[in-house]
Amino acid sequence: MKTYQSKIKKAKNYLDNHYCIGVPTETVYGLAANAYSNNAVKNIYKLKKRPKSNPLIVHYHSIKDLKKDCLLNDSFIKLYKKFSPGPITYVLDLKRNSKISKMVTNKKSNLAVRFPKHKIFRKLLKELDYPIAAPSANISTKVSAVQSSDIVEDFGNKVKYILDGGQCKIGIESTIIDLRDKPKILRLGGLEISKIEKVLSKKIKISINPKKKISPGQSKIHYSPGIPLKMNIKKTKIDEAYILIKKRKNHLSNYFYLSKKGDLNEATKNLYSCLRKIKNKGYKSIAVEKIPNVALGKTINDRLIRASKF
Ligand code: TXA
Ligand code: MG
Repeated sequence: MKTYQSKIKKAKNYLDNHYCIGVPTETVYGLAANAYSNNAVKNIYKLKKRPKSNPLIVHYHSIKDLKKDCLLNDSFIKLYKKFSPGPITYVLDLKRNSKISKMVTNKKSNLAVRFPKHKIFRKLLKELDYPIAAPSANISTKVSAVQSSDIVEDFGNKVKYILDGGQCKIGIESTIIDLRDKPKILRLGGLEISKIEKVLSKKIKISINPKKKISPGQSKIHYSPGIPLKMNIKKTKIDEAYILIKKRKNHLSNYFYLSKKGDLNEATKNLYSCLRKIKNKGYKSIAVEKIPNVALGKTINDRLIRASKF
């Protein structure tokens, strides 16, 4: 318990001094900085090599804190009550007097906000007097980090501190919903759309591939393992890594399994580590068998499609 407290104290100290640190969330690790500080947020973009036009998600501990920066509406309250803290991000209108850095929003008047569930990160958020801007803790366009060693792999000692919270439980980014007007899904993620539709009692438009990009995370080349990837493959050569949804009796050395028995939650959790592992083993290409396009399988397929655009 004591080390827990001292880790949080250390993390707070870095953040108070405008440094970026790694933080655990239930979805993926974040590269965190004080969302009210231009200098701190600038560092995020520099470290990630992220275009400044791509806005950041801001993480809050409570709705009370959020009220200082955003205008809330009925749909938000309904979804918040059911799913937050958890893997959902809401796009809301910013208040005029909000202190959120212009670097976070690319000078726009809306903000993507999230209430992460990871215990240690929540404890840290509670102790801060500012919210946390945090994109996924990976170099831009690459696969997100789901454990602290992934951050070290991408950034070396450029990230001064990582608050280690073990492996991420969900393993894929949050679902993003724009709630400014008619609710609209901007990114598939760790929360299934059908669950959101149930709470709002209506079908929700999915706008993940619009001609005009709203979320730059929708850009085609994203979540790239750095080597070519093909989907819906039935057979492979032995020198190509083959990702399978469940374990096979006739195992071959190039087989990599996302889950034991085809469980989609387990598969989601393992997806990014699996891609990293294959790359690090020196494979030059990846084939993936057909992943069922249901529940979180839809999110897995969304990421694989983008990964395949490399
Ligand atoms: O699970 C997550 O959401 C993780 C953890 C760390 O919270 N964060 C994450 O952040 O995935 P990032 O920056 O890797 O992806 C956020 C996506 C980007 O595609 C960005 O373009 C979009 O959210 N975004 C951010 N602010 C937005 C806004 N105001 N309107 C529309 N899209 C926004
Ligand atoms: Mg990202």
